[in-house]
Amino acid sequence: MGERPEVLKLMEMRKKALLGGGKEAIEKQHAKGKLTARERIDLLVDPNSFLEVDMFVRHRATEFGMDKRFAYGDGVVTGLATVGGRRVVVIAQDFTFMGGSLGEMHAAKIVKAMNYALSSGIPVIFLNDSGGARIQEGVDSLKGYGDIFYMNVMASGVIPQIAAIMGPCAGGAVYSPALMDFIVMVKGTSFMFITGPRVVKAAIGEVVNEQQLGGAEVHATKSGMAHFIANNDEEAVGIIKKLLSYLPSNNAEDPPVVQTGDPPNRADPELDAIVPEDPNQAYDMKEIIRRVLDKDTFFEVHELWARNAIVGFGRLNGRVVGVVANQPAYLAGVLDIDSSDKIASFVRFCDAFNIPIVTFVDVPGYLPGTRQEHGGIIRHGAKVLYAYSEATVPKLTVVIRKAYGGAYIAMSSKHLGADFVAAWPTAEIAVMGPEGAAQIIWRKELAVAKTSEERKKMLEKFVQEYRERVANPYVAAGRGYIDTVVKPRETRPTLIKALEYLVSKRETRVWVPPKKHGLMPV
Ligand code: HXC
Repeated sequence: MGERPEVLKLMEMRKKALLGGGKEAIEKQHAKGKLTARERIDLLVDPNSFLEVDMFVRHRATEFGMDKRFAYGDGVVTGLATVGGRRVVVIAQDFTFMGGSLGEMHAAKIVKAMNYALSSGIPVIFLNDSGGARIQEGVDSLKGYGDIFYMNVMASGVIPQIAAIMGPCAGGAVYSPALMDFIVMVKGTSFMFITGPRVVKAAIGEVVNEQQLGGAEVHATKSGMAHFIANNDEEAVGIIKKLLSYLPSNNAEDPPVVQTGDPPNRADPELDAIVPEDPNQAYDMKEIIRRVLDKDTFFEVHELWARNAIVGFGRLNGRVVGVVANQPAYLAGVLDIDSSDKIASFVRFCDAFNIPIVTFVDVPGYLPGTRQEHGGIIRHGAKVLYAYSEATVPKLTVVIRKAYGGAYIAMSSKHLGADFVAAWPTAEIAVMGPEGAAQIIWRKELAVAKTSEERKKMLEKFVQEYRERVANPYVAAGRGYIDTVVKPRETRPTLIKALEYLVSKRETRVWVPPKKHGLMPV
């Protein structure tokens, strides 16, 4: 028996909907090296898990020939699915219909999907590929953007929001990804800017192409807008899946615990020799991070931006932690404007989503100079203090080497509420570096040196004296500002013990004065 006519009609409509803007447009999309919205979703979600919503939504516009143009779905595919067995809401713009441009109904679908995510506590994944506001729909399209931005803000800190930029994303449209927690960009095929090359040229005469203005590399290295970059759509989807595996579904849940098979009491003798004897010599902090965390679990965020700081996720005894560190191998690990922003925003994300923070410290201070001062290093640096002080998740700190001055306080010190601070025997906790300090303390003595050679020798002696008396972990440990001094090899077992004991820390048991919201310097 054949299908009933009503069912045949449904099948016909589904077939049409699956084609979006049509075969030709799909071929064009492929020719650009991009997958379609549906192909991207297929790659992302578990087989047969996708529950599509609003497949038959159509726009209501009639002007500018819109009454003769429509596609079921209106240029965006939305629904619920699982990724690695965990629920997500997926929004994928379909460039094949009118360039994925956003009109009234397109926006309404996105808002509906976000409502599912918010009310059920499910992360939202938004795959952007759009020419922006649908020009024919005018203010209805602007209203749609406004509604989406509002939802992004309502969802902020409640559910993880992940954006991938997989094509154009221009004008005000950039503010939805900007309000989300993570942005993945695809090299070559994606770009993000407020005003495109043509307007830039007309307005200020600057000649620049789309990629130079807002391509993936630019946002990953210069603006810091892209947390991750991928070589193609497949890789971008892979990054999203990996990122999700570290995140809880919402702010009322803990991140997933997995068995990593790495023994919690594994000591690592190689760590004992990792810090060079010369205190001014660089080393790679990532080596320490990798050795301390469960094997192969470090997942760096913002890898290419503000490389004097390191942030990322990892696991300790299977539990997710957020890792923050200074990187002595880049600009000596100083704090500057960008690294302060990088650290502050990551710490706040971890705090919002119940992810304990482990901080590895080797910081000589703040970057000096007019560029930093005039750029507002005071304001940006303050964000680090704010974010750490405000965070109520377990905060564990390891002082590896330098912890000087204000930067010592900022980097998750006991004074900002760190729960457990360990130091290596190589730690130098002081107001400033021994060289500078010795020149101030022994200024008069140094002034009487007859030759520069004599002065140099005296200074060396004073520096040594300062090091012995001050620049070590024991003065701070004597006051209880450092909870314990550990052999480097013992770092992992010690951190895991601390984490296992402190993991039940909850914001409801930490006193914070009642307030509407604080005012983080921005
Ligand atoms: C309506 C659009 C569109 C838009 C693209 N299309 N953008 N239709 N509104 N915003 C249509 C094209 O007309 C074309 O239709 C199809 O989508 C594919 O576009 P192409 O131009 O062929 O693709 P490509 O060469 O890859 O170029 C993509 C593009 C370009 C760079 C995005 O289309 C473009 O510059 N579009 C205009 C972008 C723009 O000005 N948007 C408004 C920005 S302001 P046909 O029928 O030929 O297939 C904005 C404000 C948001 O977004 C405010 C929020 C607060």
